[in-house]
Amino acid sequence: MARRKKIYEGKAKTLYEGPEPGTIVQYFKDDATAFNAEKKDVIEGKGVLNNLLSEYFMLGLGQVGVPTHFIKRLNMREQLVRSCEIVPLEVIVRNYAAGTMSKRLGIEEGTQLPRPIVEYCYKDDSLGDPLVTEEHIAAFGWASQQDMEDILSLALRVNDFLSGIMFGVGIKLVDFKIEIGRVYDGDFQRLVVADEISPDSCRLWDMETNQKLDKDVFRRDLGNLTDAYTEVARRLGVMPKNQTPVTKPTLIN
Ligand code: TYD
Repeated sequence: MARRKKIYEGKAKTLYEGPEPGTIVQYFKDDATAFNAEKKDVIEGKGVLNNLLSEYFMLGLGQVGVPTHFIKRLNMREQLVRSCEIVPLEVIVRNYAAGTMSKRLGIEEGTQLPRPIVEYCYKDDSLGDPLVTEEHIAAFGWASQQDMEDILSLALRVNDFLSGIMFGVGIKLVDFKIEIGRVYDGDFQRLVVADEISPDSCRLWDMETNQKLDKDVFRRDLGNLTDAYTEVARRLGVMPKNQTPVTKPTLIN
């Protein structure tokens, strides 16, 4: 069989040319990075969980009418997506203060915000993804005014959907990041939710205990990351029926 053409290797995923023109295969790796890749590790089973969880969220978004790049999951680590031009912004939605917002504004982590707040960071690892305003985005032509209206509306719809799903399983959606892609249907451009939605790019806290079930477990050395992601998958019923959890078995003496 001919070797697939690698298009791009990122921190958590590798992208390959898909079987049809305009398609891409996203391969979910087990690599975890934080602090702009200063901290790195391989977390066994993370890629499988993120592939399943991202499929679950993207399919759900599609069902409530939010367009995404997702086509179908191919296997435990790969999914087929529509190829799109990624808008060079990390779109962050926050419901509770945490992370950089808490640091920047001196708001205690976990404080509920008066309403969801949307922030934009310019996607550039060498600059550490700096926070930018709509003025920068317009002036540098990263997205048009119409795009920005559509991006805001997509971000808030994703927030309502994800918050509701998480609320249903006893999890607080503190914040999350999405990426937006442009796809072309003939002469028309549409914006879609792209990349992935997984505990790598969300902050998820247990509603009762505030236990962290997201990548902060890795960033802040709070325990086993696979256990945290498995718990999210278990609550959402995303674990495949015939598969035992990817955590290591506990030995009973
Ligand atoms: P933020 O608090 O700004 O940064 P950090 O995670 O470094 O403290 O992040 C807000 C949310 O967005 C958080 O859930 C992580 C996610 N995010 C990413 O997944 N990738 C990114 O490049 C950025 C800037 C944020």
